[in-house]
Amino acid sequence: MFSRLTRLLLAAVLALAAIGYTAVRLGGAGPRAVAATTPPTIKIGHNAQLFGFTTRKLTIKKGQVVRVVNGDTMRHTVTSFRTNSHGDPLFNVSIPARATARIRATAELAPGKYRFRCLLHPQRMVGTLTVKGSGGGTTGSGQTFALPLRIPKVITGSHPVIPVERAAVQVFAHGPRTMMWTYGGSFPGPTIRRPSGAFTKVTFQDKLTVAGKLSVHLHGDHHASASDGQPDSNLLAPGHSRSYGYPLKDNNKAIPGAFFYYHDHRMMRTGRNNWMGLQGMFVVDNPSERKYDLPGGRYDVPLAVTDRSFTKDNQLLDPFPKDPMQSVTGTHAPPNDATVGTTVLVNGEYSPHFDVATHRYRLRILNSSNFQAYDFELSDGRSFTQLGSGDSLFPKPVVRKHILLGPSERADVVVNFGGELGKRVYLKSSAGSASVKLMQFRVTRRVSDSSRVPANLLTLPAQPPLTTPGIAKTWDINDPAKIGNATYWRINGKAYDPTVSQFTVKRDSTQRWSITNRSMMTHYFHIHEEQWRTISRSHNGSAVPVPAWERGLQDTWQLNPGDTVVVEGTFSDYLGRFMVHCHMLDHEDDGLMAQFTVVK
Ligand code: C2O
Ligand code: CU
Repeated sequence: MFSRLTRLLLAAVLALAAIGYTAVRLGGAGPRAVAATTPPTIKIGHNAQLFGFTTRKLTIKKGQVVRVVNGDTMRHTVTSFRTNSHGDPLFNVSIPARATARIRATAELAPGKYRFRCLLHPQRMVGTLTVKGSGGGTTGSGQTFALPLRIPKVITGSHPVIPVERAAVQVFAHGPRTMMWTYGGSFPGPTIRRPSGAFTKVTFQDKLTVAGKLSVHLHGDHHASASDGQPDSNLLAPGHSRSYGYPLKDNNKAIPGAFFYYHDHRMMRTGRNNWMGLQGMFVVDNPSERKYDLPGGRYDVPLAVTDRSFTKDNQLLDPFPKDPMQSVTGTHAPPNDATVGTTVLVNGEYSPHFDVATHRYRLRILNSSNFQAYDFELSDGRSFTQLGSGDSLFPKPVVRKHILLGPSERADVVVNFGGELGKRVYLKSSAGSASVKLMQFRVTRRVSDSSRVPANLLTLPAQPPLTTPGIAKTWDINDPAKIGNATYWRINGKAYDPTVSQFTVKRDSTQRWSITNRSMMTHYFHIHEEQWRTISRSHNGSAVPVPAWERGLQDTWQLNPGDTVVVEGTFSDYLGRFMVHCHMLDHEDDGLMAQFTVVK
C-alpha cells in the first residue's frame, strides 16, 4: 500500500515536472496560465562541471524569482559576478545534488544583464541572466579599492619564533575587524625571507589552544620528514611549541631561489585551519640569481589570493562541522565537498589598491584558497611575463595573458608600469568572458628603472640519470566511494590512512612517477619533499605538449579528468614518510592523500 502511494506521488511529481518543462521550453508561445505559475528556471545537467550550465541564458521580468534545478550528482552554485560594496554577490545560491532551490534576490535586481557562474566550477560554468522591464532595483556598487595593500611583515632572522594566536585582522575598509587564527598576529602571517643554503629553524608556539593539535608544512621545500608538517604525527600540541628545520639545501647544494608557502596541514582539519587564517609566505633568495637584475626590494611583492565568506559584521562564516567525520557523511560528503568563499582577498584584504611607481614589479602570486582555482588576468589586456613556478625560475620567461592557478600553485611574474603615470590597472580573476576585480594598481610616482627581464633565466640543476627504468610508480585519482557509512576520495582505490605507506623508494634514486586523474573532476595534485621536472603530459592516452610554464621545477600539477602527467625527481638526503595529495583542501581532508616512504 505504502509503496503504491509513493509511486502515485512520484507519478504526480513527474507529471508536474513535465508540464513545467513544456512551459519553459515554449516560453511566450505556451499556454499563459501554465507559464505564469512556473518560475523561470536555470537547469544544471549531469557533469555540469565539464559541460557547463544547461541554461546559459535566461531572461526574466523585473521582480521575478528564479528557480534552479540541479539534476547533477554534485553540488553547484549560481552566483552573480556583480557584488554589493561589501563584496557579497547580488545573488548566490548553493544547490546540493539533485535538488531545487529558489533565488529570491533576483526579484530585487534592476533591469540589466547579470553574468553568473558556479563558484565551485567557474572555469566551465558561466551564464547570463537578463532582467527586462523598467524601474529601479539593485545593480551592485562599484568597488572603491579604499584599503591600501597590506604587505605582510618580513622576517629575515635564522630562528623566527612565531606565535599561533587569535588576532583582529582588517579585511574590509569599513566596519569591525575580523577575528582570525593567525601566524604572528597577521593574515597572511609574516613573510619569512632567507638566503638559500642558510639553515632556518622556525618555532611555532600554539597560543590558540582551541584548534586542537596543529601541524605546519613548508610547501615546496625539501626537508626532513619530522619537519614536514605531517598530518598525524610530530604535531604541535595546544599550548606547546614545535620547531621545524629548513636547511634550504638539496644534496648539499643551495636550492634555487623560490617562493614557498607555509600553512597548516592537520589531518581532516587542514581546510578549517587554513580558512581560519593559518597561512603565510616564505621567499628564498639565491645570490647567484642577482645577475638577472630582476626587480627587487620594494619592487618585489608577494600577493596571496584567497577567498572567504563573511557575516554582515565582517566575521568569518564557519562552514566546517564540529565533528570532522561529518565532512564525509553529511550532504557535504565527497564529491559535494567544496569550500569556496564569495569574497576574494589579496593579502587578506577585500579589494585593496596598491600605489606603484613607473617601474617593473615582480609579483609573486600565490593561490592560497581552500578549493578554488583563479584564472588571473590584467585589466587592459596586457600580459604577465612569468619567470617561474615558485619552486624555481624557468629556463626562459613565458609571456601569458591568462595564468590559471589552482590551490597552492604560484606564479612569479613581472608586470611593467613604466611610462604609465596616472594609470589604473586591475588584477582580475576571470571566468568565461566575465571577471572579478581583485585589486587595483595606481601608478602614482615617476622613477627610473634599471631592472630587466633577461631572455634566458635559470639552467636547471643537473639531474642524476634514472635509477629505475620506465614508470616506477603510478598514482591514480579515483572518484569517491563509500567505506562503511562515510564517503571518501581515493588514491589507487584507497582513502588516506595515516598508518599506511603506499610506496617505498630508495634514497638517492631518481624515478619517474605517473599521475592520472580517473575521476570526473579537476584536481591539483601535490607531491611533498622533492622538486620535480615535468616530463610529459597526455589526455586519455594521447600525448599533449608540456606547456612552457611547466619547464621549471614543480610540486603541483593541474589534472583535468583523463589527464596524465609524468614527473621525474631524485630522492636526496632524507628518510621517512612524506605525502602526496590533492591540494583542494576539502579533497585532501576527505581522503585524497597517500604516503610514500624513503628508505636506505
Ligand atoms: Cu601545501 Cu601537503 O601541502
Ligand atoms: Cu582534488
